[in-house]
Amino acid sequence: MKVAVLGAAGGIGQALSLLLKTQLPAGSELALYDVAPVVPGVAVDLSHIPTAVKVEGFGQEKLADALTGADVVLIPAGVPRKPGMDRSDLFNVNAGIVRALVEAIADNCPKALIGIITNPVNTTVAIAAEVLKAKGVYDKSRLFGVTTLDVIRAETFIGEAMGKNPADVKINVIGGHSGVTILPLLSQVEGLSLSDDEIAAMTKRIQNAGTEVVEAKAGGGSATLSMGQAAARFGLSLIRGLNGEANVVECAYVDGGSEHARFFAQPIRLGKNGVEEILPCGDISAFEQGALDGMLATLKGDITLGEEFVNGK
Ligand code: NAD
Ligand code: LMR
Repeated sequence: MKVAVLGAAGGIGQALSLLLKTQLPAGSELALYDVAPVVPGVAVDLSHIPTAVKVEGFGQEKLADALTGADVVLIPAGVPRKPGMDRSDLFNVNAGIVRALVEAIADNCPKALIGIITNPVNTTVAIAAEVLKAKGVYDKSRLFGVTTLDVIRAETFIGEAMGKNPADVKINVIGGHSGVTILPLLSQVEGLSLSDDEIAAMTKRIQNAGTEVVEAKAGGGSATLSMGQAAARFGLSLIRGLNGEANVVECAYVDGGSEHARFFAQPIRLGKNGVEEILPCGDISAFEQGALDGMLATLKGDITLGEEFVNGK
């Protein structure tokens, strides 16, 4: 398997690449692409770690080489938030970056599974879909918005609240990846007993966790290390699915025929062609139904923005 990381010299890119270098199956290739001139150095640095994963760095002019033969492409390229910004404030810069990178994917590895990390994810995934469609290579089973960070945050916070190992917490986080569009289905967590107020507070903490990091970093960027872990988990799950492993399930933001919106984060079973099966979100509480109804206008607006960016109004 060949995995390409676009934006590999950044905060997420370096953490993710380190985790992939140490966790990809033996014999894999890792292609690191960035416009920052340090990227060949990041690759040399990682190449000294003794695993059977070949790492190569690709600078600005070498995007096609980085992508050729890729089975999975993970994209954390783009600018992060500073305090006071919403993820949607990143659209002006990041929309064009994602469009250009996905055009190159369409030209060089149209069958690759694509994981979009660049914010605003609710919108950049729609941009990617429209670019692939315009190039005549769109397969909705192969495009994913990476929302795994919301899932690992929920696992962590719930594990703490229950006095339980977070590794043993299972939770679906549905919707999208910003503010009210992030909806953890706390009512489905076995053994979790919280008051209505505690459920509302826990939901809000998970929704605002990105902002918690942005404020704590005080102008130095947003989540990179936890996102590196989340992206590695998701990327490795994609590979496990491609390798034919059964029952690989993750939540991700996909074009899955949801009744709620064209793109919707939900549990999916991964397989040899990407999304093998969209799984039901399951029963939800009245509180969650209210939150779901309340997010849809925002989510649909975010999606339309991406579609119009590529196709015009
Ligand atoms: P960063 O600034 O540390 O790194 C971004 C990297 O992208 C830099 O190395 C930069 O050179 C590179 N880059 C810029 N334009 C590029 C291009 N055209 N081609 C290739 N590389 C390019 O930022 P970061 O903290 O790693 O965050 C990256 C993105 O991920 C941001 O948009 C951020 O909001 C987003 N993010 C998403 C999630 C999520 O849950 N999906 C979580 C955290 C951050
Ligand atoms: C996150 O959830 O941490 C990311 O989307 C980055 C951000 O801007 O909050």
